[in-house]
Amino acid sequence: MSARVFISRDSGALCVGADEVARALFKAAEKRGLDIEIVRTGSRGMYWLEPTIEVARPEGRIGYGPAKPSDIDSLVDAGMLEGGKHPLSLGLAEDIPFFKKQTRLTFKNCGIVDPRSLEDYKAHGGYQGLAKAIAAGPEAIVEEVVNSGLRGRGGAGFPTGIKWRTVAQTPPQQKYIVCNADEGDSGTFADRMIMEGDPFVLIEGMTIAGIAVGATYGYVYIRSEYPHAIEAMEIAIRRAREGGTLGASVAGSKYAYDMEVRVGAGAYVCGEETSLLESLEGKRGEVRAKPPLPAHVGLFGKPTVINNVLSLASVPIIMSDGATYYREFGMGRSRGTMPIQLAGNIKHGGLFETAFGMSLGDLVDEIGGGTRTGRPVRAVQVGGPLGAYFPRALFNTPFDYEAFTAADGLIGHGGIVVFDDTVNMARQARFAMEFCAIESCGKCTPCRIGSARGVELVDKIMAGEERAANITVLEDLCNTMKFGSLCALGGFTPYPVMSALTHFPEDFGASPKRLEAAE
Ligand SMILES: Cc1cc2nc3c(=O)[nH]c(=O)nc-3n(C[C@H](O)[C@H](O)[C@H](O)COP(=O)(O)O)c2cc1C
Ligand code: SF4
Repeated sequence: MSARVFISRDSGALCVGADEVARALFKAAEKRGLDIEIVRTGSRGMYWLEPTIEVARPEGRIGYGPAKPSDIDSLVDAGMLEGGKHPLSLGLAEDIPFFKKQTRLTFKNCGIVDPRSLEDYKAHGGYQGLAKAIAAGPEAIVEEVVNSGLRGRGGAGFPTGIKWRTVAQTPPQQKYIVCNADEGDSGTFADRMIMEGDPFVLIEGMTIAGIAVGATYGYVYIRSEYPHAIEAMEIAIRRAREGGTLGASVAGSKYAYDMEVRVGAGAYVCGEETSLLESLEGKRGEVRAKPPLPAHVGLFGKPTVINNVLSLASVPIIMSDGATYYREFGMGRSRGTMPIQLAGNIKHGGLFETAFGMSLGDLVDEIGGGTRTGRPVRAVQVGGPLGAYFPRALFNTPFDYEAFTAADGLIGHGGIVVFDDTVNMARQARFAMEFCAIESCGKCTPCRIGSARGVELVDKIMAGEERAANITVLEDLCNTMKFGSLCALGGFTPYPVMSALTHFPEDFGASPKRLEAAE
């Protein structure tokens, strides 16, 4: 009987040798005359265990990893294809504590299904949400998404259903669905994982959005640094079209919906929704003043739903299992689950999907296992380059939109970047200003000029030049940027700067000892 083996094709697995491992296994099986089928999946998100080999057994998938090509002979000799024991044995993949502790709703199929097979997606429950959506009709879909409590996972946390309702209620005309897959936040990779590991769930979510608001066409705007995601999405769109779930009659219904991939040219600000729309129209990625909202005047001047990958990929389960089921998870106004991405100096880096409400400290210390260097955790930045730095004293903050806002921070796209005690927070503040200066679209003065002045000020503070006075000017500058910028790039850069200054003032003392140590 043929053995079924699963090896990830996710970029995170490829860059540590997953292709080489798959090739070595294929050759070893050929040499021994063994009948095996190697299925290339996405990743389960336990990156420190990649490349992982999983073998299908009656009791479930048995994992082995992290595997190198040179491990293959001993693995096969140890009876890996029958689930045999080996020093690299991980046991049942679903029982690995990091995986078992999760609540996988959006990522339920990621790392499990073959991302190139529409049939496999359907066999794992795919397109049941679409079937219910078609039966329910546009108004009922919008109400279901509103009732689920789903909020945008791209950063701003705006209720997805309300956005859809606005587009649905604009007079009938050409409307668009735009998926924001620019994913520029530091330490984030959840969008990429979905597109590489379960692209049909995103296509299904976008199709449901199209039916809900009366849009017949959609675009996925993917950053150019994601070649594997681009390829995976293009293949899946083609297969969905061939399978009849995209096209003039979606799944045989009266609704038409089709979509395509567009590739960004590499600018952080093109993740900002209006800048993204400019870029999609073939123009320079510059932020548009709001109003009008994209929901009224969006792509090519038409009403447009623009949502993050995770927001759209959460819709199929909301439709298939119901808003009530989805909103049972979470706390306060943060409903459902959040795919949290653990990155930076962390022992167990990867994707951890859980209901809102887990504390930041539990995520970093218990789930992430502390730092990879083994040194104490000193700071974590949550929410990308515009997110605040949290000291240990705030580690009891629950992962919840409102709790993070109350702590002068933001959840953003759910990225957590961990730093140990060798970090110099004044340098991190400088980096935040420098990043803003480099990535600024240049449209407004507080951001364009303020960020350049911010770099100079932090340099002076670090050099001990009129320190107290320059710290006061830096605070004043941060206020100007926060309240005077047109978009959140300039408006939120003060978060990392001010949090570094507030929680780690000693690093701004330009103590020669500390600066020397950081050289
Ligand atoms: C500078 C900047 C960069 C952004 N980058 C992204 C991004 O990469 N992906 C994303 O989904 N949203 C990003 N956003 C947020 C988008 O403007 C927008 O809020 C989001 O796409 C809406 O989708 P959602 O409601 O599903 O979150 C960014 C915002 C700013 C100000
Ligand atoms: S804040 Fe910066 S990125 Fe945003 S519009 Fe102003 S100049 Fe452009």
